[in-house]
Amino acid sequence: MANSNKKTCLDIEKLPKKRVWRFLDLVRWEGFWFPRSAVPSAMTFRHTFTARNDDVLLASSMKTGTTWLKSLALSCNRRNGGDADDPLAAENPHFLVPTVETAVHTKKSIKIDIYDASSPRLIHTHIPYSLLPDSIKTSSSKIVYIARNPKDTLISWWHFFNSIMPSIPLAKAVDSFCAGVHDFGSFFDHVAEYWIESRKRPEKILFMKYEELKNNPKVEISKMAEFMGKPLGSEDEVEKILWKCSLERLRNLEVNKKGTTYVFVANKTFFRKGEVGDWKNYLTPEMEEKIDRMSREKLEAIGLFL
Ligand code: A3P
Repeated sequence: MANSNKKTCLDIEKLPKKRVWRFLDLVRWEGFWFPRSAVPSAMTFRHTFTARNDDVLLASSMKTGTTWLKSLALSCNRRNGGDADDPLAAENPHFLVPTVETAVHTKKSIKIDIYDASSPRLIHTHIPYSLLPDSIKTSSSKIVYIARNPKDTLISWWHFFNSIMPSIPLAKAVDSFCAGVHDFGSFFDHVAEYWIESRKRPEKILFMKYEELKNNPKVEISKMAEFMGKPLGSEDEVEKILWKCSLERLRNLEVNKKGTTYVFVANKTFFRKGEVGDWKNYLTPEMEEKIDRMSREKLEAIGLFL
């Protein structure tokens, strides 16, 4: 293992690098841009993870509703524990459902070792479909992917990094986003890969949209629970889960007002407005057109409208 780690580090140094935000090196690995610090764990995951048939992998590009998806999936899994059994009340969703490539950077030690945890495992990744471990693709494990409108994703991404790093102008963020030079980018390729695979294997990948979850939460959460093999019972149960995982509730929990998950990221950073169409408050018509052009070329051309 020591040798393979050494080899991985050497290889990373040879990969192309860029910086959009100060302090954050991006590295291009197999056609996608990764935060430099995430590459070793992403490589290890790809080469050493053995999926089990009852694993559920949540997947997303950044700022597309990951926190919500983690909360909902966790609550569907744990719902037999009753009202008192609500881990979300004590911990941030990112701590409870680790993101494989960033879990190693937490201040607190993660309770769940994804390589060792008891079944059924619920894990999350931002890694693109093409770079997932083969065993995830070939086993009967399931993948739930969440996508979001590119313009709202971009604005959410811009706010997120501006709140944890020296800010950059929106025009620069738009250019980087459209060029695919951002964490786990290109966003468009990321979404397209999972979309195409979900069309081929709907029993394997459930492709969800943030906007549909907002507009029709009961139907969407029931669909997701069913897909995960945890069908929900009464309407009351559905409503309880939606309330437990609502932005308002999570934002106001003490742990999310004060705590931190990642080395330098406060839990509260993950809860902003949660609105559909917030981009209208920020983008100029030129910026809008630039992103729409990408959507037409990369997503609408394959039948995906976000
Ligand atoms: P905005 O920045 O548009 O408000 P991610 O979880 O992938 O980092 O995405 C963050 C986005 O999801 C943020 O969007 C955030 O406000 C929103 N969000 C976080 N928790 C949510 C929840 N429980 N319900 C709906 N949206 C949520």
